[in-house]
Amino acid sequence: MDKAQPLFDHLWHNYIEQNPQVRKVYNLLSNEGEEVINDHIALRTFDDPRINVDVLAKPFLNAGYHEAGKYVFEEKKLFAKHLEHSFNPKAPRIFISQLETEKFSFKLRQIVKQWVDLIPEQLLKSKELLYSGNSWVIPGFNVYQELKEESEYAAWLYVYGFRANHFTVSVNALKKYNSLEKLNDFLKSNGFSMNQAGGEIKGSPKQLLEQSSIRAGKIPVLFKEGTYEIPACYYEFARRYPDKNGKLYNRFIAKSADKIFESTDNITN
Ligand code: NI
Repeated sequence: MDKAQPLFDHLWHNYIEQNPQVRKVYNLLSNEGEEVINDHIALRTFDDPRINVDVLAKPFLNAGYHEAGKYVFEEKKLFAKHLEHSFNPKAPRIFISQLETEKFSFKLRQIVKQWVDLIPEQLLKSKELLYSGNSWVIPGFNVYQELKEESEYAAWLYVYGFRANHFTVSVNALKKYNSLEKLNDFLKSNGFSMNQAGGEIKGSPKQLLEQSSIRAGKIPVLFKEGTYEIPACYYEFARRYPDKNGKLYNRFIAKSADKIFESTDNITN
């Protein structure tokens, strides 16, 4: 068996447990006879050396993956790496980003440091960190709101901790819904709302990558101050095109991802 499979199983389980709309989309596609293959899985973290991109990448590197790309997202103040499996072409790419906390206020950095200080030592050393959520802390709603003023990404991570931010369906692997237009129409006709920031489809055939996503559903979360409904995770869809040499484009486009990150933003109206 693929050594990375148990990692995916844990991440997928936590993801669909928390996000019922993902299971609905998955079932809709399966019922249409489609094989749902993951283009990539996205993980988020902070740049603290105890939990940064390299720490989260390690279990994947130990399971047959290698580093295949680096990215800078200036607007969102993120740095990211993507990993690819060295011999299994069906294994999803892993996209791991970290928030560059030194580019934010002292207050944000302090909140992040205190949050990381509380992670149990044995969890920091274990691959279980990848799918441990925020099991060590009950978040404060005031803190969540404070963080959100500076960074939606920081606020999301503070509340949800370590888990897949999104899985991404490979549109290339679909038969009937083999374009984002067809797939988006199918999802909308089934009551899902697509993320419209930067247009419904980000990227273009010319850029060799197109992506879209459904908006993150809101779920009740227990905070110190009580239970509040806030956005959780979203489901993404990607179509890749071959380059001039006929090789399928394998990277990510920093500009599109800047917009895709907004799928977890809180929509107030
Ligand atoms: Ni993505």
